[in-house]
Amino acid sequence: MQISANIQAIAYLASAIFFIFALKGLTHPTSARRGNYYGMAGMVVAVVATLLGGEVQSYGFIIAGVAAGAVIGAVLAAKIQMTAMPQLVAALHSFVGMAAVLVAIGTYLNREAAGTLNSVLMAELSVGIIIGAITFSGSVIAFGKLQGLISGKPLQFKGQHMLNALLAVVITAFAFHFGMTGSVVSLTLMTLLAFVLGVLLIIPIGGADMPVIISMLNSYSGWAAAATGFTLQNNLLIIVGALVGFSGAILSYIMCRAMNRSIINVVFGGFGSEGGGGESSAAAQAMEKGVRSASVEDAIYWMEDANRVIIVPGYGMAVAQAQHAIKELMELLEQRGVEVKFAIHPVAGRMPGHMNVLLAEADIPYDHVLEMDEINPDFPSTDVTLVVGANDVTNPAAKTDPSSPIYGMPILEVSKSKQVYVIKRSMRPGYAGVENLLYFQDNCSLIFGDAKDVCEGLATVLKGGGH
Ligand code: TAP
Repeated sequence: MQISANIQAIAYLASAIFFIFALKGLTHPTSARRGNYYGMAGMVVAVVATLLGGEVQSYGFIIAGVAAGAVIGAVLAAKIQMTAMPQLVAALHSFVGMAAVLVAIGTYLNREAAGTLNSVLMAELSVGIIIGAITFSGSVIAFGKLQGLISGKPLQFKGQHMLNALLAVVITAFAFHFGMTGSVVSLTLMTLLAFVLGVLLIIPIGGADMPVIISMLNSYSGWAAAATGFTLQNNLLIIVGALVGFSGAILSYIMCRAMNRSIINVVFGGFGSEGGGGESSAAAQAMEKGVRSASVEDAIYWMEDANRVIIVPGYGMAVAQAQHAIKELMELLEQRGVEVKFAIHPVAGRMPGHMNVLLAEADIPYDHVLEMDEINPDFPSTDVTLVVGANDVTNPAAKTDPSSPIYGMPILEVSKSKQVYVIKRSMRPGYAGVENLLYFQDNCSLIFGDAKDVCEGLATVLKGGGH
C-alpha cells in the first residue's frame, strides 16, 4: 500500500499538531502524561505516513533498524535509574547528531552518483553535518562527564576560546569550499573538525553546569534534525526539529535564570571547578562554630505538634529513592492534623522536573507541591522544614555572601522557618561544591543518614505514637 504525497502532507500536519499538543502537555505535571500520549500518537502517525510514502524503496533495512532500536530502547528504559536520566538524554542526543551527519553524507553520495548535486543542497548538507557533528561529540563528552567516565571538572587552558573561534572560522571556510566545488577533502576536513569543536566546546564546562549544557545540546539536536529535514525535503522533520531546537533553547534560558547565570557565563565559565573545596570566607568562619546533629526522635518532637511542615526534596532524595517513605511520613503527619507541603526549586536534582516526577511516582497530590516563588513567603510562618537530600538550593550564601560562586542564585528560604532539619549522609558539599551556611544557623540541625532510612525512621517513630 502506498499513499499519495497529499495524504502524506496531511498526515504530517496532523503529526505536527500532535507534537505541539505534546509540548503543551509537558508544561505541567498534571498534564505531562497526556502530553506524552500526544507525542507517541504524533510519532506513530509520522512513522506510518513516512513508511507508506513513495520514497521508500525496500523495507528490509528499515524493519531491521526499527527492531534493533526498539530492543535497545526498551532495555534501556526498563533498566535506567532516575538519577542516570541526564546521561541517558546526553547519549540519545549523540544519536540524533550522528544520524544528521550520516544522513547528510548518505545524501551527498547518492546525489553525487546521480549527478544532481547543487550549491544550495551542499550548503544544507554542510549545516546538517556541522551541527550534527558538534552535537554528537559534545554529547559524548557530556555523557562521559555525567557517567563519571571522565572527570566532571572543567578542563580549561589558555587561548581556549580563541582556538574554538579559529576552528569555527576554518570549518566555515571548508564548508564554503565544499559548497562551491563539491570537494570531498573539504567535506571530510569540515566533518572531522566539527567533531573536534564539539569536544572542545564541552570539556571546559564544569559538572554543575552540565544539565544546562544537556538542554543546549538538546536544542542543537533539534537544529541538526531540522537541517536533515531540509536535506531530505521532509517538512515534518523541519517542524519537529524547530520545535525541539526552540524548546531546548527556552529550557536552557529558564534553567540559567533559575541559577542566576547568563548562558554566556555557563558556556564559557568553567563553574564547578572547585570540586569539594571552594568555601568562601564566610563559610570558613561559620564552620568553626560547628554544626548541630539530631536524631529522628528530636525531629518528630517538633514535627508531630507542628501546624505546618514543609518538605524540601533534592538530589539526595532521588539517590536514596526516598519518595515513598516521604509519602508515608506525609500521611502520618496529616492524620495528626499537620499541614504538609513540598517546596520545589527549579533546579533541584539533576534535571528539570526531577523532583516533580519522583513525587508524582509516589502519588503525592499535586496540590501539595509548590514551586519556589509560591512557597517562599510561607517559610517564616512554618514550624518545621525538613530538607531531604537538598543542599545548594537551600544555601543562604546565595543571598548573603557576594564571594560565593552561587551568589545571586534564587534559593528556597528554608532558613526563615522556626526549625530546620536536614537529612544528609556527611558534611560533603552539594553539586556546586560550596559549603552550606544554613547548617551553621541556630535553628538548623542535621540528621545524618541515608534519606530513605531516615524518612522510614521518622515514620516509624510517628507510628509508634510519636516522641
Ligand atoms: P545538591 O546541592 O547536589 O545536594 C544533594 C545533597 O544530597 C548533598 O548534600 C548530599 O549530601 C545529599 N545526598 C546524596 N545522597 C544522599 C542519600 N542517599 N541520602 C541522603 N542525602 C543524600 O542537590 P540540590 O539541592 O537538589 O541542588 C541541585 C544542584 O544541581 C544545584 O547546584 C543546581 O544548580 C545543580 N543543577 C541542577 C540542574 C537541574 S535542572 N536540576 C541544572 C543545573 C545545575 P551527602 O553526600 O552528605 O549525603
